[in-house]
Amino acid sequence: MKIGTTHSSSVRSSMTELSEPVAFPQDRGCPYHPPAGYDPLRASRPLARVTLYDGRTAWLVTGHALARDLLVDPRLSSNRTRAGFPITTPRFAKVRDRKAALLGVDDPEHRTQRRMMIPSFTLKRATALRPSIQRIVDDLLDRMIAQGPPAELVGAFALPVPSMVICALLGVPYADHEFFEEQSRRLLRGPTAEVTQDARDRLEEYLGDLIDRKRAEPGDGLLDELVEQHAREGTPDRDELIALAIILLIAGHETTANMISLGTYTLLQHPERLAELRADPSLLPAAVEELLRMLSIADGLLRLATEDVEVAGATIRAGDAVVFSTSVINRDTDVYPGPDTLDWRRPARHHVAFGFGIHQCLGQNLARTELEIALAALFERLPTLRLAAPADEIPFKPGDTIQGMLELPVTW
Ligand code: HEM
Repeated sequence: MKIGTTHSSSVRSSMTELSEPVAFPQDRGCPYHPPAGYDPLRASRPLARVTLYDGRTAWLVTGHALARDLLVDPRLSSNRTRAGFPITTPRFAKVRDRKAALLGVDDPEHRTQRRMMIPSFTLKRATALRPSIQRIVDDLLDRMIAQGPPAELVGAFALPVPSMVICALLGVPYADHEFFEEQSRRLLRGPTAEVTQDARDRLEEYLGDLIDRKRAEPGDGLLDELVEQHAREGTPDRDELIALAIILLIAGHETTANMISLGTYTLLQHPERLAELRADPSLLPAAVEELLRMLSIADGLLRLATEDVEVAGATIRAGDAVVFSTSVINRDTDVYPGPDTLDWRRPARHHVAFGFGIHQCLGQNLARTELEIALAALFERLPTLRLAAPADEIPFKPGDTIQGMLELPVTW
């Protein structure tokens, strides 16, 4: 099967520029733009070559149409335990053999796991959760307003909103949030492979204990339903349940927290766009899509080719690493003219910020709902919200993890 044939000319022209692979990932210079070091990648559509931290060369998909073709191609595996599966940071070296649910498995195993999850993540379910999300957001803002100004928005708002929401959905006690937020942080950004491994061990132990307790005292979260399903049907087994709980808990709070913090920072840096939103709140859903596109916080989706894949002008060989840079793909000028500009009126919906294909983000309906409610309430309740430190001094996350603000000092 040939892929991306409409791009043959651009592949060929880009092939000549592929001789010098660019290092991937790199740290952003501005938290909402791709690193300047990716400029050669942006010029090389739809495919480029990059060098990973361990010196390995990988394909980097940079074109929007090709990305959507390849993200549905079963010859690209997501199974992280396969020999030769790429990693983009040495921190993951010691956990690569751990069983990862959903994102870490291929069909048919993936399909079985995904089917178990779908009823809890439909648009209908996210809509039904609106009142409780609104309550969480309002309570957090009440508390922040009572205590400030100023405030540190990541700790006071951006992190607790999705953390509380995913706890309620899964049936994880929010009282344990300091523990699991800290372990997620160590897992994703801990300074060494040992720290990452230790964080993963602790999360497995914590969620294993929680699941065992739920057997004795069932509650009404998704994990309780899965425990009940296990009692009835024998699946998912305890290890699979723990792996599912880990990805849901981490993906459920880390990602959305980064979108809230970085989204707020970006809006404060674009006062005209923010004024448009304030004047016409019906723009909010479109604004959330455009922010997802522009910020592309999950930048660097990983796959391993299991067979040769012919892409017009190039052959991805079995065993090759394939990386999708969402920040570069979401700025493909063929699809998004003037891609570096925030524009609420552009049709941004087909971005790949949530991925595409069988692994497309399970939590996207929930994430969109949380983002709409959180950003609307924040700017409505605090009309004079502004940064409490020079914008270029506020620290943000390094390029080898999910992008977002490390902290966000604000005042009003
Ligand atoms: C704005 C916030 C979010 C962003 C930008 C985001 C981004 C992504 C991306 C890019 C993928 C695909 C990765 C790949 O193909 O390699 C993904 C998958 C996934 N996301 Fe999200 N995510 C967000 C929020 C959430 C939330 C709230 C949940 C809730 C549990 C969640 C759960 C998952 C899961 C379970 C997968 C794996 C799905 C599968 O393999 O079938 N995400 N996400």
